Amino acid sequence: MVKKKALIFGISGQDGSFLSELLLEKDYEIHGLIRRKSHVESQTTRIDHIIDQINTEYGDMTDYASIERFVRKVQPDEIYNLAAMSHVRISFDIPLYTVQVNAMGVANLLEIVRTACPSAKVLQASSSEIFGNCIDEDGFQRETTNKMPTSPYGCAKLFAYSLVRNYREAYGLFASNSICFNHESSRRGSNFVTQKVVKTAVQIKRGICDELVLGNMDSYRDWGYSKDYTKAMWMIMQHDIPDDFVIATGETHSVRDLCKYVFSKLDMDYMDYVEQDPKFMRPEELNRLRGDCSKARSILGWEPEYTFEEILDEMIENWESIFDGKKMDEIENMVIE
Ligand code: NAP
Ligand code: GDD
Repeated sequence: MVKKKALIFGISGQDGSFLSELLLEKDYEIHGLIRRKSHVESQTTRIDHIIDQINTEYGDMTDYASIERFVRKVQPDEIYNLAAMSHVRISFDIPLYTVQVNAMGVANLLEIVRTACPSAKVLQASSSEIFGNCIDEDGFQRETTNKMPTSPYGCAKLFAYSLVRNYREAYGLFASNSICFNHESSRRGSNFVTQKVVKTAVQIKRGICDELVLGNMDSYRDWGYSKDYTKAMWMIMQHDIPDDFVIATGETHSVRDLCKYVFSKLDMDYMDYVEQDPKFMRPEELNRLRGDCSKARSILGWEPEYTFEEILDEMIENWESIFDGKKMDEIENMVIE
């Protein structure tokens, strides 16, 4: 039987690695775009364990030619666009670059698909950042909630979301948005708050450092598990019509709750170690996220499998193994932030 071909932009990221594993299990032929890095050892760290089963090529979402060449060459059945400058606070530091990658990169991709490979299905990794501080009266965000983003990242993602809908309606492309709320794992970058809190708490416990410096501790997030969310992306792609789906757990916790849980798991009181520094605050904050994924539940049959506590427990265990020397390969590649 001919294998389905998937082309993944952002294959080296947290979600890209889990999605690749899922598609390998489903016997896809996998191609992925990677970026050139000066430190070649960390180029494909998250996918090194499967690198011999996938084809990677160099390119960049801001380089139209590299995307066009790859799409034309592979002629994929499914294209997953997970590539993004994905850090919300940093998007205030590099707003123009963020727009180039997260908005114009998607415009590049859709235009290439329309002209070079119109039968390919496209999944865009959209974000709950597109809602900004708009919340429905019942306290949830859903597909129909107003959208007024509060960061350059969110604004660029809203442009991309809208363009996906536009290309679907105007040209009949199979193009869908997964409107994902925050999702984490032990593969999360350690400058996102969950991984930063867990990694630093484990370091404090082992006497490697003595404080955790954070920004706003009173924002709320709906945190899920990356593996669950990449499965949802695949399910959206298999649905018979292209559409947009909120992917969320429906539970919300504050950054303070997160600290409380992680430190208490390690028999410590977070109040003894956490400091706040304006350097980690954002010029405009998104205060509260809580997603209603009823549409994905009823139409796709998707639901989150991991709880907030299970996700954090796994992340704690991961850093404990690393600092206890059980994962030497990770120590060799580790940058302590
Ligand atoms: P991530 O770990 O930061 O991965 C981002 C990926 O995009 C990496 O492979 C990165 O490559 C690649 N990339 C960045 N800039 C690029 C460029 N100019 N050209 C080509 N590739 C580029 O993020 P993630 O957590 O896996 O998230 C995946 C997608 O879902 C992103 O689009 C993100 O915005 C979106 N999303 C994530 C969440 C979440 O909570 N995780 C929630 C909603 C939406 P390098 O490895 O070279 O940096
Ligand atoms: N990163 C970070 N670092 N966040 C902090 C810190 C800190 O030191 N201190 C407090 N926070 C707060 C942030 O202000 C925010 O309210 C919350 O912790 C979560 O921050 P992040 O983990 O950086 O995630 P995010 O919500 O800004 O963005 C993530 O989720 C989006 C979906 O809602 C990213 O994965 C985005 O790519 C994604 O679209």
